[in-house]
Amino acid sequence: MDRIRIVGGRELNGTIPISGAKNATLPLMIASLLTDQTLILDNVPRLADVVQLQRILGNHGVDIMLGGKRPGDDEYKGQTMHLSAARIVDTTAPYELVSKMRASFWVIAPLVARMGEARVSMPGGCAIGTRPVDLLILAMERLGADIEIEGGYVVARASRGLRGGEIAFPKVTVSGTHTAVMAAVLADGTTVIENAAREPEVTDVADCLNKMGAKISGAGTSRIVIEGVPKLNGARHSVVPDRIETGTYAMAVAMTGGDLMLEGARPELLQAALDVLARADVNITSTNRGIRVSRNGAGLKPVEVTTEPFPGFPTDLQAQLMALMTRADGTSRITETIFENRFMHVQELARLGARIHLDGETATIEGVPRLRGAPVMATDLRASVSLVIAALAAQGETMVNRVYHLDRGFERLEDKLARCGAEIERVTS
Ligand code: EPZ
Repeated sequence: MDRIRIVGGRELNGTIPISGAKNATLPLMIASLLTDQTLILDNVPRLADVVQLQRILGNHGVDIMLGGKRPGDDEYKGQTMHLSAARIVDTTAPYELVSKMRASFWVIAPLVARMGEARVSMPGGCAIGTRPVDLLILAMERLGADIEIEGGYVVARASRGLRGGEIAFPKVTVSGTHTAVMAAVLADGTTVIENAAREPEVTDVADCLNKMGAKISGAGTSRIVIEGVPKLNGARHSVVPDRIETGTYAMAVAMTGGDLMLEGARPELLQAALDVLARADVNITSTNRGIRVSRNGAGLKPVEVTTEPFPGFPTDLQAQLMALMTRADGTSRITETIFENRFMHVQELARLGARIHLDGETATIEGVPRLRGAPVMATDLRASVSLVIAALAAQGETMVNRVYHLDRGFERLEDKLARCGAEIERVTS
């Protein structure tokens, strides 16, 4: 099993190209099930989750072709993926595939919308929380689907097609909003989604669907209106830059000191996180190339942050911020409101010498003068990268185990950091 070896204490200087967003790519690939024509996605990141979803879509009959390198392409250029669901030959998403990646459960909406039926394995538990799918099921029932749970599978039927309706989510849910939008675009009539998620990935999917001929308005706000259409066409769409990857590297250079250009990053996608970094005395400059982040040896100020749905501070940057605050001049508090079990990194950061006290959903972090390298264990995607950030500033060597978690959501992390001066390498055993 691969591990990552880091020797801390070096500044980061240079340019990091930001990849396409994992959390936009997955629903965009799933949207290809809504048309019998070809959807072309540009700026697709090379991630384990993307490869896993290719397998799942292939099982339904989707042909997927990756474009080869073109003259002048640099090694970090995103992939071009051609997806053609000319014929859906199987409307079952089996446990063996879905259990490996939760987001694959989202195929249920386009399958019911286009084929009138779907049988999808329940995704099961997750390290960061129970993560039920009751609101995804609620959305489809509101659009007229009959839903049954049989042997660990959600069986959805709408033999005469879905019909427009009102969906008012009791809480903001990204997966619920993606599911409602993808179910409603081919439904008969108008759908109104209230208390919708406003995440940039929701907007990116809506933009792509509108290019395919859908009639969606209000994406990015909490009220989305969809006029159903009989059919969708093919289109070409470029995946939005990854705001979580951007925030992660911004926190890495804030941790080590140095000066990084995050190429292709867009500040409006993570303004709340940039505001927190500025409050911590990190220099942030937006340019037409991307976002420049630097810290020149000045101390880090402690902060108080609560995770919230967009445009609030993202839960997917909570662990990275916690790692950064272990070195602040004073005491910080971070409250996690989205997932009930998203503090798995606390014990691992403590192995590096961090002082963190947990009280329910709030972590209190007392800044320490230095961290020391140690062997640590990755537990989930974002927790694992917080350990990398801490190790980059720790004295001595850190070995991060179970890095397969990282490969799910970060493209070529060690290459991108090494080219900016980090002493980091993958150890294959
Ligand atoms: C998406 O997960 C992201 N995943 C998550 O990123 C991200 O943390 C999350 O949104 C919040 O921003 C992808 O896009 C693939 P939710 P999702 O539905 O859609 C509860 C990462 O690290 N809920 O907005 O599953 C749920 O348990 C991942 O890249 C219900 O109760 O999140 C949670 O507490 C981790 N019932 C809250 O709502 C439901 O039916 C928000 O979940 C659905 C959700």
